[in-house]
Formats: sequence, structure tokens, C-alpha cells
Amino acid sequence: MVNVAVLISGGGTNLQALIDACADKSFPARIALVISNNPGVKGLERAEKAGIPTKVINHRDYKSREEFDDKLHEALLESGTELICLAGFMRILDTRFVNRWKNKILNIHPSLLPSFKGLHTQERALEAGVRFTGCTVHFVNPELDDGPIIIQAAVAINPDDDADTLAAKVLTQEHIIYPQALRLVAEGRTQVDGSRVIIRDANYATQKIINPIPE
Ligand code: GAR
Repeated sequence: MVNVAVLISGGGTNLQALIDACADKSFPARIALVISNNPGVKGLERAEKAGIPTKVINHRDYKSREEFDDKLHEALLESGTELICLAGFMRILDTRFVNRWKNKILNIHPSLLPSFKGLHTQERALEAGVRFTGCTVHFVNPELDDGPIIIQAAVAINPDDDADTLAAKVLTQEHIIYPQALRLVAEGRTQVDGSRVIIRDANYATQKIINPIPE
């Protein structure tokens, strides 16, 4: 059983998906701690409801990014954390922190990386006119929304989509792939090879092919 800490900044629907997955006894990870950099957010309520210890480490209370990250590091060690899941955690982690947890931090991002890093992903996907967007779970590098990709899911963009409908469709997929990715990593089936992730014993025949031509 792998001890996971989930870092959040807000609503925590991805946290909820991970909580629900961990409720299954056969799931290879358990959430040992939820940390939010913002007090009073819905994600903290979700964790408390599930009986998971929570901590608020408010970045506004620290003079520098390094000091904030040191505090995070300390809390993670205290809780026996082995893997970190960023789930809507909207703070950039400094290089020292990321290197301390090399290949132990997972992030979910609402685009098909390396496209549309950063904020306002759905607006930018619509503006770019791409036919597909989606979401990505990846290991975290020191650069923003960057690092070896574990799983992606694609979502078709329809002419009547706006940023809100698209975000909702993408979020539904996020809730599917984040637990899948965490399972693979917790089972020790992922190996980082440069910028790629090799997944052991994966049945690629079950991968779905999406027809890009509308009927
Ligand atoms: C999710 O869409 C997640 O992919 C995104 O924030 C949202 C958090 O929602 N993360 C990023 O943009 C990271 N760069 P949630 O709090 O309901 O899980």
C-alpha cells in the first residue's frame, strides 16, 4: 500500500475521484494527507468527510517560495508520504522541491500536453481551432505543466462547445484517468525513460481509436 498526499487549492473534484478510488480495498494506494494552500476550500471538506487528515499551508504566510516548499516537504515527510498527487494545486513548486521528489509527483492538467500549458486552457483550445483537446496525467518536472506523460484522454470539440461545456467534458475524463494513472504508478508499473514513461504489462489492444471525422 503506497501512502499518497494530495495537494489542492480549491474544489477538489479530482481529489474526490482519488478518494473514491482508494475506497476500493484492492486499490494499491491510500491517501495519508490532503494539503491545501488555501483555507476554507471545498476540497478540505471532501477530505474531512472521508476521514483523511488535512493541513492548510497558506503560501501567504511565507516570505519565499522556498520557505513554503520546505514547510510542505516537512509535512509530507511527517505523514509518511511516498507519492504526491497535485490535484488542482495552483502553485509552482521550486526546482529543489521537485528534485527531492523526483518521479514521485503526479499532476493533472486539462489539456493534451505539451499543448496549452498554464491557465485558460479551454479558451485557448477553442481559439486555436483544434478538433480535440483533453487531459494529461504526468510526472512533474521543474517547468510548469511539464514532464513525462503517464496517461492522456482525448475529448472531441464540437462547434457548439464553449469553454464551460468543454471544461466539463474534460473534467469527466480527468476523474477517470487520474485514478488509473495513480494505480499504475502505485503498482510500480511505470518506468521513466528520459521524457517518456514505459508502462509494464499494459494491454495496448484495449486502447480506443477515435474517428476524427464527424458523421
Ligand atoms: C482541474 O481541471 C485540473 O486539471 C486543473 O485544475 C482543475 C482543478 O479542479 N489543474 C491545472 O490547471 C494545473 N495546471 P478540481 O479542484 O475540481 O480537481
